Amino acid sequence: MNTTTDETIVPALSRPELLRQSAYVGGTWLDVGEGPSIIVRNPATGDAIGSVPALDAETVRTAVSHAAHAFQEWRRVPAKQRARVLRAWHDKVIAHIDDLALILTTEQGKTLSEARGEIQYAASFIEWFAEEAKRINGDILPAAADGNRILVLKQPVGVCAAVTPWNFPAAMVTRKVAPALAAGCTVVLKPASATPFTALALAVLGEDAGIPPGVFNIVTGSARQIGDELCQNPLVRKLTFTGSTEVGRELMAKSATTIKKVSMELGGNAPFIVFDDANIPDAVAGAMFSKFRNSGQTCVCTNRILVQASVYDAFCHQFEHAVSKLRVGPGIADGIDQGPLIDAAAVAHLNELVADAEALGATVTVGGKSHSLGGNFFMPTVVRDVAPEMRLFREEAFGPIAPIVRFDTEEEGIALANDTEYGLAGYFFASRMDRVVRVFEALETGMVGINTGAISSEVVPFGGIKASGIGREGSKYGINDYLEIKAGVLAGAF
Ligand code: SIN
Repeated sequence: MNTTTDETIVPALSRPELLRQSAYVGGTWLDVGEGPSIIVRNPATGDAIGSVPALDAETVRTAVSHAAHAFQEWRRVPAKQRARVLRAWHDKVIAHIDDLALILTTEQGKTLSEARGEIQYAASFIEWFAEEAKRINGDILPAAADGNRILVLKQPVGVCAAVTPWNFPAAMVTRKVAPALAAGCTVVLKPASATPFTALALAVLGEDAGIPPGVFNIVTGSARQIGDELCQNPLVRKLTFTGSTEVGRELMAKSATTIKKVSMELGGNAPFIVFDDANIPDAVAGAMFSKFRNSGQTCVCTNRILVQASVYDAFCHQFEHAVSKLRVGPGIADGIDQGPLIDAAAVAHLNELVADAEALGATVTVGGKSHSLGGNFFMPTVVRDVAPEMRLFREEAFGPIAPIVRFDTEEEGIALANDTEYGLAGYFFASRMDRVVRVFEALETGMVGINTGAISSEVVPFGGIKASGIGREGSKYGINDYLEIKAGVLAGAF
């Protein structure tokens, strides 16, 4: 264990070796040593939690070679056995939920209860894909030519590179690694530099569960250097990324040289529409959940609340009351609803968005500035009378700011909702069935919450359209992104 560890967390772990200050390549833990490293800090305090190696491109290439070598064996392991290994991994994750949640809160900032929820969510992908591993079925199709048969075989893509974000350090790892392993692929994972320890702890448990050396590798270090190597390495056959549209675009362009299969879960600008036939208390509860979950730092967080004029005041009053009750503090403390943001840049971005909206005529009714706790804490905020020309309407805030926009007709509400380059999640509250069907069909998003602010689970096909990405994760569709379809045309004697 490296000396930079903030000793407050290690004694609190029932299994201290889950906090690994290492990369994981070919089944070997490459501990942080004399070479370059990255310090990981607790966003609630600024204290160092520890550090991980900043690997060079050659070590990343070595990780890819290990994954390519391991692929030749892993793809041949019977699906039932791959499923057993995944199931054992799931069970170990659940058994260590307290340690994992503590590591997650310490490096990411979310409250301990949200961190426990995320570990359960992360484990649900492992369990789901352990089950799906056994259902990768082929097909036999009738052919156009008499006597022929067409065979359809689904085969693993090969080595997959996975690049994951800091907002869900556990769930975004398992949502990618579990289907890849279930399909028979091997993985080189680059976790976010701000939050590598949860991923490394998951790998410790994966090793315990029997994931063979080289099947799951973790490379730590500079996102640019590692990203370049993973995109340009011809042995990597697929790239899966969750993060900003800007970075996704860059990774896609770099992967074009080696024609990789790509899955991209990118930025969002989720509309949350409250129509005049909505149940207002339910809409308030839905907006509270979808806006303030993870301190507003999810790609599917409500980013703009659009409220029909006749219910505008009623909704705003109830919503503002609920927001003003949120308790802010370190995620580790009792009774806290909202932890810190990830870093100072995130706080500065929110302050800029509020200033821009106020300058253009919007009104802050709750919060609106950095929290008196200082550091990375920001006040839960409501801004009324936001309009399309404001940055708050156009940009993904990725923080606890709820901009409210007024509209008159259903058509106007839908047009405002779709007035964005993004198309990840959308939400609406309404009770008339004709409206529910119309609005569901009209929203230009990959996922829609109808009378709910909670859309995420392992069963839901998660993903976006427009600039929000390509592909679906989780659900019965998620494994397809890790499979190739091979067709065989069998001629002759039938
Ligand atoms: C994300 O923010 O990318 C993931 C959120 C979720 O899975 O609900």
